[in-house]
Amino acid sequence: MSATATIPNETYDYGVVYRFAIMTVVWGIVGMLYGVIIAAQLVWPELNVHEYLNFGRLRPLHTNTVIFAFGGCALFAASYYVVQRTCHVPLFMPKLAEFTFWGWQLVIVLATITLPLGITTSKEYAELEWPIDLLIAVVWVAYAVVFFGTIAKRRTSHIYVANWFFGAFILTVAILHIVNSAAVPVSLTKSYSAYAGVQDAMVQWWYGHNAVGFFLTAGFLGMMYYFIPKQAERPVYSYRLSVVHFWALIFTYMWAGPHHLHYTALPDWTQSLGMVFSLILLAPSWGGMINGIMTLSGAWHKLRDDPILKFMVTSLSFYGMSTFEGPMMAIKTVNSLSHYTDWTIGHVHSGALGWVAFISIGAIYYMIPRLVGKERMYSTRLMEIHFWMATLAIVLYIAAMWISGVMQGLMWRAVNADGTLTYSFIESVKASYPFWFIRFLGGALYLSGMFLMAYNVWMTVRKSRTVAAPIPQPVVAAA
Ligand code: HEM
Ligand code: HEM
Repeated sequence: MSATATIPNETYDYGVVYRFAIMTVVWGIVGMLYGVIIAAQLVWPELNVHEYLNFGRLRPLHTNTVIFAFGGCALFAASYYVVQRTCHVPLFMPKLAEFTFWGWQLVIVLATITLPLGITTSKEYAELEWPIDLLIAVVWVAYAVVFFGTIAKRRTSHIYVANWFFGAFILTVAILHIVNSAAVPVSLTKSYSAYAGVQDAMVQWWYGHNAVGFFLTAGFLGMMYYFIPKQAERPVYSYRLSVVHFWALIFTYMWAGPHHLHYTALPDWTQSLGMVFSLILLAPSWGGMINGIMTLSGAWHKLRDDPILKFMVTSLSFYGMSTFEGPMMAIKTVNSLSHYTDWTIGHVHSGALGWVAFISIGAIYYMIPRLVGKERMYSTRLMEIHFWMATLAIVLYIAAMWISGVMQGLMWRAVNADGTLTYSFIESVKASYPFWFIRFLGGALYLSGMFLMAYNVWMTVRKSRTVAAPIPQPVVAAA
């Protein structure tokens, strides 16, 4: 006798994914526009026209917008998409997921108002004041409930590795945010950190470095493990390596924070510990990069005419480059040259523009047509142009920063035979101008590429609605 169970005609919950995907493009443009403006302010200081819009106020607005608004929306979109597709169920508590969307947008709007007004904790990447911090904590807990709830009700037996990375990113960011934001409020817009002196610095950079490790890396590795195999139509090169990669990466990242505090009042042994763990970090980082790149084995020819794969594979190359450069910069003697210079800025943007933004752009180009029921993006040619514009832009940006960074470091340490400094600080600033101009050009080019992306996305989604794909049903057993 055979029994057929009634199978509900379930579909994936794509609405919230779509909204986050669209806002990724919007906030990408806004955040990078701030980047271009502050790059211009360094070249033409007269552009600091008003206290609300000067370099010091717009810089944290740039970092908050690109990391948390652009990167954050990309992570929400990708994790909500991937967790559904790999678990074969719609999102757990879809209304709560909708709340995370509006809550997160509110956080960003509040950041956009408060930072120009000078309302800040002055902790880098954690500048937002305590009421906004509370809102972030609430939204983040809701995010965790939706994500882990979806995992819990999955129909597949195992949890795909991309979800491990998303899960680690969500849990760790919650811990980092709550611990580092502990503060004593004195008014609605002012609080003082719960930690003092060197402990405050240590907690801040434990947070700061793991923000890089978990916000700017682990979540994006989750994207890599889903979208690269999908786009290349190949299985992950080594599933075993991905598991080793996961545990090694999350264990090692936690210890490397003190490399941001070399030659400070932090105990010397802590600095050395941070340096050693940073060097070890090269191994899991490259293990992950190799796993991603080797997934293309047998599919390399697809790179020739697939701009989405081009974005994704180039992102891995930049990931490899910045995770080689980072450990080198963590060596104390190298850091004595690179610290405070544009070299750090070059490192940051090879990771940010090359790794974070490229993998996000690839993921958005992958998801958008699927979310609105189209076969492909409106124009493959525009994606191809976007890719080359963005690649050229990064080269301009980071090469200029490397040269000016090393130049600044060497000028600052140059001494004459009688022990006096060879150069005054202002001479090093003057010498940096040509490179800041090249960085401005690179930034403007990168931003122009984002406008092309917005146009392409608009033409793809125009006159269409989100179309939720049916969820594969489990095979009904014969009784
Ligand atoms: C193995 C991995 C990495 C290591 C060991 C590492 C190490 C370092 C070091 C030593 C610095 C300079 C600290 C200073 O002199 O102040 C730094 C700065 C920075 N890195 Fe990395 N890095 C790694 C990967 C990445 C990646 C992939 C990204 C971005 C996606 C990134 C983003 C940043 C940022 C934003 C800063 C600037 C922090 C600040 O505001 O001072 N890093 N990193
Ligand atoms: C058009 C693209 C961009 C331009 C023109 C740009 C420009 C800038 C400039 C001029 C600074 C200040 C440098 C300084 O103080 O000397 C900066 C800092 C920073 N930007 Fe960008 N940026 C862009 C995109 C991004 C993206 C996409 C991200 C992250 C996903 C990012 C993350 C950061 C971070 C973390 C810092 C602080 C670095 C530090 O403190 O060491 N930027 N950016």
